[in-house]
Amino acid sequence: MTLKTHKSPLEDIEQIKRIDKSTMLQFSTKAPKHYREAVRLAEKIVLDYEKPVNIIVAGMGGSAIGGELLKDYARSQAPVPIEVNKDYQLPAYAGQRTFVLVVSYSGDTEESLSAFLDAQRRKCMVYCVSSGGTLLEFAEKLNVPHLRVPAGMPPRAASPYLLVPQLVLLEKMGLVSGVSEGLNEALKLLEKVSRENAPEKHEEFNPAKSLASGINGSVPVVYGFGIYRGVAQRWKQQFNENAKVPAKWEVFPELNHNEIVGWEKAGALAKRFSTVFLRDKSEPAEVRSRIEITRALMQAGGSKQFEVWTQGKSALAKMLSTILVGDFVSVYLAVLRGVDPTPVQTIVTLKHKLGETGIREKIIRELEKLKPIRS
Ligand code: F6R
Repeated sequence: MTLKTHKSPLEDIEQIKRIDKSTMLQFSTKAPKHYREAVRLAEKIVLDYEKPVNIIVAGMGGSAIGGELLKDYARSQAPVPIEVNKDYQLPAYAGQRTFVLVVSYSGDTEESLSAFLDAQRRKCMVYCVSSGGTLLEFAEKLNVPHLRVPAGMPPRAASPYLLVPQLVLLEKMGLVSGVSEGLNEALKLLEKVSRENAPEKHEEFNPAKSLASGINGSVPVVYGFGIYRGVAQRWKQQFNENAKVPAKWEVFPELNHNEIVGWEKAGALAKRFSTVFLRDKSEPAEVRSRIEITRALMQAGGSKQFEVWTQGKSALAKMLSTILVGDFVSVYLAVLRGVDPTPVQTIVTLKHKLGETGIREKIIRELEKLKPIRS
């Protein structure tokens, strides 16, 4: 009698290719190349707006996450507040001295088009980042400065092209520094992370595969802090869209004031979750003690706990490399679950159904009435 040996789908490249039909894994493997191209593309940016008093990044989902990362990066440097606007209207304070970055990969997202309309009506200083669509059509008509990024990717895989221009813009405006140096370090580190987590690397030596196997069968909950706030959010979104699982993210220290009580009497429910703590060798002492005390308190609840130690020296290298690890984990989790990571059918269906309401057309009719604000 011959015993069948069970091979994990993660160690079977052909099986990975069968599940990952549209090759989402390649976007992770090629992330360093896309960041390099995004840096080259962003070099073209010219902008002659005066210094803003506040900044708004308007976008949704995979196009908004760059704004969250920008906000985290700029938090310790920028003299002006940054808000990420994920809605149809801009906040009441938006005005002529507000710099609004409208980011929509497709250029056709209803909320982003509406925010663009709102920004034009309020005479904000607007800049658009998109691969085309209605957004760039109107940006061109209305003389709004913009950057056209390469088309043909799922928006969440295009994050190098959506984030790098935002960082470069803020640096050009003199609001943040260290972007070029950070990106230089990140480019090298991303190559390393991509090699370490490549599909050919066995789970034993592949941190992303090993974490995906650990998480499989549970709901991932990602805990970040400081510059890893948006990173935790991105991990959650990638679990949703690539692995097609519910997921959650929280941030220290706030999670110490509510989230931890939720585990207190979770009982058998706790076993259905996996907590992932993002850690940094140079995390501040106050964060370190919180994470350690929190882990110990939560251990009693019985959820699976994992730690991901980030790499790199500069904030950008740390953030971008940790994002790439999460991207790999989410795709490997998809493979383990036997789901194709690329399609996001529910979002497509929702957008299609919303399309039938005529709201988007109404926004477009309003855009057609606009005249250029600046020559
Ligand atoms: C799909 C994805 C979505 C989109 C969102 C907004 O990969 O990540 O979250 O990013 O529906 O669409 P865009 O980015 O085209 O404005």
